[in-house]
Amino acid sequence: GKPREGFVKTPHSRPMLSLDNAYNEAELRAWDQRVRDALPSTDQIRYVCELKLDGLSLALHYAPAPDGSARLLRGLTRGDGTIGEDVTSNVRTIRSVPLRVAPAKLKDAGMPASFEVRGEVMLPQAAFLKMNEQRVAQGLAPAVNPRNAAAGTIRTLEPNIVAQRRLDFYAYFLLHDEGEKAGEFLLPTQSEGLEALRTAGFRVNTHATTVDSIDQVLAFIAKADTLRDSLGYEIDGVVIKVDASAQQRRLGFTGKAPRWAIAYKFAARAGITQLGGVLFQVGRTGKLTPVAALAPVFIGGTTVTRATLHNADEIARLGVRIGDFVQVERGGDVIPKIISVVDDAKHPRGTEEIVFPTLCPRCKTLLVREEGEVDYRCVNASCPARLEEELRHFASRSVMNIEGLGEVMVAQLLGHTIAEQATTEPNADEDIEAESEAAPTAKALVHSIADIYQLTKEQLLTLERIGEKTADNLLAQIENSKAAPLNRVLLGLGIRHVGERTAQALAEHFGNIDDIIAADIPTLTAINDIGPKVAETIHEFFLNDRNRALVDRFKKLGLTMTAEKRVTTTTLEGLTFVLTGTLPTLTREAAKEMIESAGGRVSGTVSKKTNYVVAGEEAGSKLDKAQSLGVPILDEPGLRALLAPSAQ
Ligand code: IVH
Repeated sequence: GKPREGFVKTPHSRPMLSLDNAYNEAELRAWDQRVRDALPSTDQIRYVCELKLDGLSLALHYAPAPDGSARLLRGLTRGDGTIGEDVTSNVRTIRSVPLRVAPAKLKDAGMPASFEVRGEVMLPQAAFLKMNEQRVAQGLAPAVNPRNAAAGTIRTLEPNIVAQRRLDFYAYFLLHDEGEKAGEFLLPTQSEGLEALRTAGFRVNTHATTVDSIDQVLAFIAKADTLRDSLGYEIDGVVIKVDASAQQRRLGFTGKAPRWAIAYKFAARAGITQLGGVLFQVGRTGKLTPVAALAPVFIGGTTVTRATLHNADEIARLGVRIGDFVQVERGGDVIPKIISVVDDAKHPRGTEEIVFPTLCPRCKTLLVREEGEVDYRCVNASCPARLEEELRHFASRSVMNIEGLGEVMVAQLLGHTIAEQATTEPNADEDIEAESEAAPTAKALVHSIADIYQLTKEQLLTLERIGEKTADNLLAQIENSKAAPLNRVLLGLGIRHVGERTAQALAEHFGNIDDIIAADIPTLTAINDIGPKVAETIHEFFLNDRNRALVDRFKKLGLTMTAEKRVTTTTLEGLTFVLTGTLPTLTREAAKEMIESAGGRVSGTVSKKTNYVVAGEEAGSKLDKAQSLGVPILDEPGLRALLAPSAQ
């Protein structure tokens, strides 16, 4: 939860604490006893049981608007608990977060127009799977689980991307947001708080239940455990909260957690199985990924036979050997993970060391591990394993969208029979090396991505299970893809670090492929969102003869090589700004965006080189420093005037 550069850090009304955990019935009963001991014996105690949603917590602040409604003012991540990151522009794209609560609804809910809501932001499983499909198609590593994906998404500096990801927000606390009571419960009980939030239009988890005894809590936990696989989102336990805020106040807090709540954690879904061997997969960028081949084991509803080992460092960290019994965990992950090696009387250790190959398992080129990188790569640009991945990527929906050019067809075009493909899926007890032998055969119809544009119907008809209709359809799809815009073609080239956003930026900035090829590193770095590392990979990519030849062939074949240039203003080019304090209408993000899209730069520290300091209310030491250095100070209207065309 360490705040990262790029978001404004803002303190919370009250710290966002964590919860103490209970892992079994005895621990839960002990907590219930502590609660009872701390309250008068005559007190009736009610608990609210809620699902423990496996996302990350957010604090949303609402403030009154002139029309009497409540408007979303600010959304903060937990950050370090005391200071969060302002992710308002991203929060605004979450459909289950109301941007405005109408006066009538506030009245129904018994809420003022100023309040704070805390809750959990999460990525539903379906959205997570979709996101990972896209990432893989783009040659990016899939996110490990929905929680990490949600955390990454909410801290993306691109609200458009956040909007596409379909995050969800479940509200679980309603707090005061004004005066001395800021951060305290707004209503006398947690259950009333949830009800009010629901009435006001927030999404509140429907499974929350109020109970009067710890036995009922245990029944709720048992039920939640059975629901777990059918919810469509990840939960990792149940949160139990004392309902009455008067009792909560009496109970108070320990250092980091309230005494009036506890998290009952479900056991992680894990199993023990034996490591039969390790496969080495070569990705589109040549990256070698070790994959554990496991004896089949049933974990949380699916049979697991594979687990990622990530890289050589991870293998060393685990100290795992072939033949070892390993603890495998499956969270919301697409790919199960090896947690540890089991070493006890029932599970003897394996004996065979995992040896990282020195040669690419497919083309036998010497593998390279660049300085400072953990991954080994096959640097042979014509490696058949890479071509296979490149083709899949090129044809995928988010790139050139060539329907019919899926995994099986790609393999066939590279000369593999369907029967061969079935046997390249190794089993744990098979000789793992076998997979590495599948290289394109003499029958391969395609040796470069561009070759697909010269495929003929006669050639396709020689393939297994391809009739006239399939061949015609595929050829039509391939032909259609020539109309795909330049940004898709750029994405299709599979340049490392170049995802959708960067491809778009390149196409819009240069307007044609030749200028992109000709661009030097400083020119590339000057484009918004392109840092020095990405600029370098782009530049290097086009220095490579094979890559330039591919682009030439694309041109001759009639793929789209131009795009509409987007004119961005350069009003503020060469000027450095520092923002401080709260501006009357612009958020920090918005002001930064305005300055940057006009070619200016925003820095965090005031120096002699700062051209302007834009100061709002409660500006602090940065304003003082600007004054002492004689740096010109602007207010929001001043900034807008500078940006207005008349000022040019
Ligand atoms: S109450 C101090 N209620 O669990 C109060 N938290 O382990 C803490 N969480 O940081 C928050 N579902 O991110 C609460 N129904 C729920 C929750 C929940 C998930 C998360 C939350 C918190 C973490 C603590």
